[in-house]
Amino acid sequence: MSDAPVPFGNYQFEIYLQGMSGKVPGLPTTYAELEAKAGEQLSPEAFGYVAGGAGEEITVRENRAAFDRWRIVPRMLVDVSERDLSTTVLGTQMPAPIMLAPVGVMSIVHEEAERAVARAARELNLPMVLSNAASTSLEDVAKELGDTPRWFQLYWPTNNDLAASFVSRAKDAGYSAIVVTLDTRLLAWRPRDLSRAYLPFLKGEGVANYLQDPVFRGALEKPPEEDLQAAIGLWATLFSNPYLNWDDLEFLHAHTDLPIVLKGVLHPDDARRAVDAGVDGLIVSNHGGRQVDGSIAALEALPEVVEAVPDEFPVLFDSGIRTGADVFKAIGLGARAVLVGRPYVWGLGLGGEQGVQQVLRGLLADFDLTLALSGYTKPSDVGHSALRRADAL
Ligand code: GLV
Repeated sequence: MSDAPVPFGNYQFEIYLQGMSGKVPGLPTTYAELEAKAGEQLSPEAFGYVAGGAGEEITVRENRAAFDRWRIVPRMLVDVSERDLSTTVLGTQMPAPIMLAPVGVMSIVHEEAERAVARAARELNLPMVLSNAASTSLEDVAKELGDTPRWFQLYWPTNNDLAASFVSRAKDAGYSAIVVTLDTRLLAWRPRDLSRAYLPFLKGEGVANYLQDPVFRGALEKPPEEDLQAAIGLWATLFSNPYLNWDDLEFLHAHTDLPIVLKGVLHPDDARRAVDAGVDGLIVSNHGGRQVDGSIAALEALPEVVEAVPDEFPVLFDSGIRTGADVFKAIGLGARAVLVGRPYVWGLGLGGEQGVQQVLRGLLADFDLTLALSGYTKPSDVGHSALRRADAL
């Protein structure tokens, strides 16, 4: 017997064995059913906020369609009995190239919000990228995470002192990289939320990192505990920053020694500029189709961005990851790791910590099995040659 760790794919045997005593998984095992069930059980506002995107949601759909345009060409007669999915990105070790994407305001889908997500991440040792717009402060999430790797996502506010405070708090709480989201310098036109006149932040959800921040509190006449409306009013003036530009990165470099990862890059020229600006990594993303409707699918942008940066420069990917095959395709097109968002949010909404775990274990298993059945034993061996354009077949 080898003492290699139990393969992620073995999760399927756990499920089938439980079936012998009449038990089936608590949540659906396909994304479509998971989302449909969330649609039945969550409030229409919360469901619409998470599921929705900008405009006509063409890019939400296009993100998925782009995966369908690539097909895997499995290889045979390769010994895949032992596999190692682990990888390291910017010093962060992970058991598989899968991270939890930053998603804000999770209190709208479950009362335990990011705490439950953090416990699930800890159980699986998957790195969590905590949203600046979380419903739980970065310090409280860090406590739940224990030693689990974590990065902090920054919405660069209009006040640089606040930005500096966020990144210094993140470092103190053990976050090991700063992910700057570039695509949300304004909030997009989102019809699902507009038709319900629903913006959870205005109800005090998703602002925990602000309410607990010394710089933010210092700018208030009364503490948020005494006057929440005034605090939310201040938040509204600070949250998004349309002034943000390349020159601002110097400020961040001067205020943190953590690696800086830019999220939301889609154009190869921006990728080159980011490398020149001395950042440490990129996330190719269109914010899950939530910002520019009609924007290029993130997966379509990935190869060009990878091509534009030096060989070992870490490029990560999000926007549309639903299955193991999706992870495989993104890795094949050059992503060092992927971030998954909506699937685990549905898991949270439907089943709390256990729900998040089930969704993530399913994704890990599916990826492990897809990798093995395609003839690979580690993600770094998967390249472009493992894929074909469906329209070229
Ligand atoms: C905020 O960033 C959102 O996408 O809702």
